[in-house]
Amino acid sequence: MKFATPGRHQGRRSVAETLPGSRFIVAGICQHHDSRSRSSGQTHRAASDLSRPTKLELTPVNIHEVLDDVLLLETQAADELSITVKKRFDPSLPPIRGDRAQLTQVFLNLVKNALQAMSGGGPLTVTTRVETDFHIRGQGSDRSRLIWVDIEDEGVGIKEDDLPHIFSPFFTTKNSGTGLGLAVCYRIVKEHGGLIRVESVEGKGTTFRISLVVAN
Ligand SMILES: Nc1ncnc2c1ncn2[C@@H]1O[C@H](COP(=O)(O)OP(=O)(O)O)[C@@H](O)[C@H]1O
Ligand SMILES: [Mg+2]
Repeated sequence: MKFATPGRHQGRRSVAETLPGSRFIVAGICQHHDSRSRSSGQTHRAASDLSRPTKLELTPVNIHEVLDDVLLLETQAADELSITVKKRFDPSLPPIRGDRAQLTQVFLNLVKNALQAMSGGGPLTVTTRVETDFHIRGQGSDRSRLIWVDIEDEGVGIKEDDLPHIFSPFFTTKNSGTGLGLAVCYRIVKEHGGLIRVESVEGKGTTFRISLVVAN
């Protein structure tokens, strides 16, 4: 494991919590912003995205349009790696409450990571579905319906030891990685009242699952 800016991470706790006995973590438990984490050069923009409080422009968003935009942006990268994209979209999916630009960033980061994990090619599967149970969210009894988006690759997978760190700013296992993609995803999804989960088996692949709240 390594961090993109060594020496700046003492005392930072992971933003994700590991569930005992499984290669499965749930983000959304605690979050740490370290204002010292800003850096220069290529990471600067993403780093300042991370430390700046966002003003979300919440509107009803068709998440299929967001996913189509992201997949279109990444078509060439996927083609070059002979990656087949499989869309399993639930046609009954309702609009969610979100900031379209910010959510585009989330899914772009996740799809880029999935492609980077599959240098040998393979399928990328994007699935949407409606959560059938109602969830009690927040402190009160505010009940919201959720949808889920799964981004599933058959790439290199994530080492069990690395899983608790992947949402931490600057954590990367890539030579030219910034380690900011997932930290930004985590921040944005949390601000939307959603969750990010990840399941991964080294050598087999990784699935990120994102929940978002249905628009009223
Ligand atoms: N789909 C994936 N497959 C395998 N590893 C992943 C995947 N997504 C994220 N990771 C791991 O999480 C780390 C952090 O990801 P990210 O925050 O996007 O930073 P970066 O892509 O710059 O390394 C990656 O370096 C990699 O080790
Ligand atoms: Mg990345």
